[in-house]
Amino acid sequence: MKQVIDFVKANLEKEKQPAHALGFGKYFTDHMFMMDYNEEQGWHEPRILPYQPLTMEPSSMVFHYGQAIFEGLKAYRTPEGKIQLFRPDKNIERLNFSCQRMSIPTLDEALVLDAITQLVTIEKDWVPSEEGTSLYIRPFIIATEPYLGVRPSKRYKFMIILSPVGSYYGGDQLKPVKIHVEENYVRAVKGGVGHVKTSGNYAASLKAQEEAEAQGYDQVLWLDAKENKYVEEVGSMNIFFKINGEVVTPELNGSILGGITRSSCLQLLDYWNFPVSERRISIEEVFEAYYRGELEEAFGAGTAAVISPVGELSWNNQKITLPPSETETIAKRLYDAITNIQLGKEPDPFQWTVEV
Ligand code: COI
Repeated sequence: MKQVIDFVKANLEKEKQPAHALGFGKYFTDHMFMMDYNEEQGWHEPRILPYQPLTMEPSSMVFHYGQAIFEGLKAYRTPEGKIQLFRPDKNIERLNFSCQRMSIPTLDEALVLDAITQLVTIEKDWVPSEEGTSLYIRPFIIATEPYLGVRPSKRYKFMIILSPVGSYYGGDQLKPVKIHVEENYVRAVKGGVGHVKTSGNYAASLKAQEEAEAQGYDQVLWLDAKENKYVEEVGSMNIFFKINGEVVTPELNGSILGGITRSSCLQLLDYWNFPVSERRISIEEVFEAYYRGELEEAFGAGTAAVISPVGELSWNNQKITLPPSETETIAKRLYDAITNIQLGKEPDPFQWTVEV
C-alpha cells in the first residue's frame, strides 16, 4: 500500500542562483523530506516540509558515535523540460546496504523512491538546465536517540535535502584534476566500513585531503590499508586507468565503495566491447605503465564528480603528468554517453533514467 506523504508548503521561496555561481552543495531548495523511526512505530510519519534547521538533543547518538549514512544522486532537466533521475533504484539499494552494515533499520525502497520523486516534483523549478548542472539529491539517516551508551540507537531521522549544483571541482566538468597518492594515512580496511556510505569514512579522510590540498592537489588516491600498495579509490570517486588499450579499475574488495557511476562506466564499456577489467592493480604497476608509455589515461567516476580526467598523479616523490589527448579519450566518451543519457539527449538502452 502506498504511504501518504504529508506536505507543508514553505511560505517563502528562496532566490535561485545563476548556473555559474552554483558550485557544489552550497545552496538548498525550499523543502525537505523527513521521516522518523522508533521501536514502537518503525519508520513513520513521512512528510515534506519547509527546509529548516533541526532541533536535536545534544545527547543524540549521532553526535557521539557517528551512526550516520548518506547517499547522493541527481535529477536532470531534459531539453524538452522533463525531469529525470539517474538510477535511483541503485542508490536506494545501497542506502539499505549501508543501513545493514551500520545497524540502522532498513527502509521500504518503494517509499524512498516515492519520497524522492515527490520532493523533486515539488522543487521542479530548482532543477537547473544549463550545461553541466543538475539537482543533487542527498538522502541521509542519523541516530537521534538521546543516550551515551555505545549500542545502536533506537531512534533515527531519515531526511532528503536538495541542492542545485554545477561542477564538483569548479570550472569545466572535464578539467583534469591533480591527485596525490596517499602514503601515510589509510581510508578503510577489509571488514571495516569502507564499502558503505557512512559519514565517518569522509571525516577520516579529511586530514589527508587537507594536506594534499596544501600541496596543490585536488584529491587523494587511497591505497589498500594492509600493504599500502594496491589502488583503492579517490576521495569522492572511483578510479579508472587506461593501460595499453584496456580500461582497468580496482575490483570491489570490501573496502572500496561500489559507485553507481563506476558500474555505469563498466556497463557502457562492456556494451561497446571495449576491453575492460576489474582487478587488483598496484600503484607501482600504474607508474611503470606510465614510464613504458602505456598509461594512456586515468580518470575518476562518481555522482558528484561525474567523469573527471586525472591530469597529474604524485606518488613516492614522483610526479607524472598525463597530457590532454589530441584525440577522443575514453573518459570523454564515457562522460558524453553518461551525461547524454542523464539529460535525455540520447536513447537510454539500459533503462537507467526514471522520469519524475
Ligand atoms: C557523490 O558522488 O554523490 C558522493 O557522495 C561523493 C561526495 C561528494 C562525498
